[in-house]
Amino acid sequence: MILPKACIFDLDGVIVDTVPAHYTAWKAMADEVGVPFDEEENENLKGVSRFDSMKHILSLGGIEKTNEEILAYTERKNEIYVEIISSMTPADILPGVVEFIDKLKANGIGIAIGSASKNTPTILKCVGLDKVFEVIVDGNQITKSKPNPEVFLKGAEQLGFLPQDCVVLEDAMSGVKAAKAGGMKCIGVGDPIVLSEADVVISDLTKVDIDFLKALYSNEELHQA
Ligand code: BG6
Ligand code: MG
Repeated sequence: MILPKACIFDLDGVIVDTVPAHYTAWKAMADEVGVPFDEEENENLKGVSRFDSMKHILSLGGIEKTNEEILAYTERKNEIYVEIISSMTPADILPGVVEFIDKLKANGIGIAIGSASKNTPTILKCVGLDKVFEVIVDGNQITKSKPNPEVFLKGAEQLGFLPQDCVVLEDAMSGVKAAKAGGMKCIGVGDPIVLSEADVVISDLTKVDIDFLKALYSNEELHQA
């Protein structure tokens, strides 16, 4: 095979920079329960569902809460988060995303979203990408959080391709693990140390094009851009 048949994109941190908004909202919850929380700790929440993220924050402080209480925190966190992201526009799409999507389409390569976020439809609408992807699998359709590969396996299935025919683009440790567990190639987007389990890591989507995908599939040496 020379090229993948599809690319499955994570949303938060790959298509749009919602990471600071998630951080602000989680920080508010962490402060409320009295748990120290910083941007480094926030790395562990990337790709993780809302409920599991709140459980993680509580576990940092050794705090026990009922599922109902955890749900109440996640609802409040989401109110803060949605307030921030509701002002997003197409200008908030990360560099290189639109150009790369255009190249994929021109080459007949399928495109899908594979995100843990239940806010995926809202975000895609805000930034004007709601009619662009052939398949969207998000937090509303999955039961298992990344690093479980469910979200990407559903994406591949709905695209009509085998996992090995799909490349995942991910900014989260948990997401890279999910892609690899699903038998897919994975392009990490972000810090090469954090994303060391990816097949290759790039700083942003301006660094990827069709030749890059060809090299990834022919196992040529890829430089870490
Ligand atoms: C992931 C984010 O994409 O979605 C996580 O990386 C977030 O930080 C998760 O917790 C769930 O998002 P939401 O929008 O459903 O709260
Ligand atoms: Mg992400």
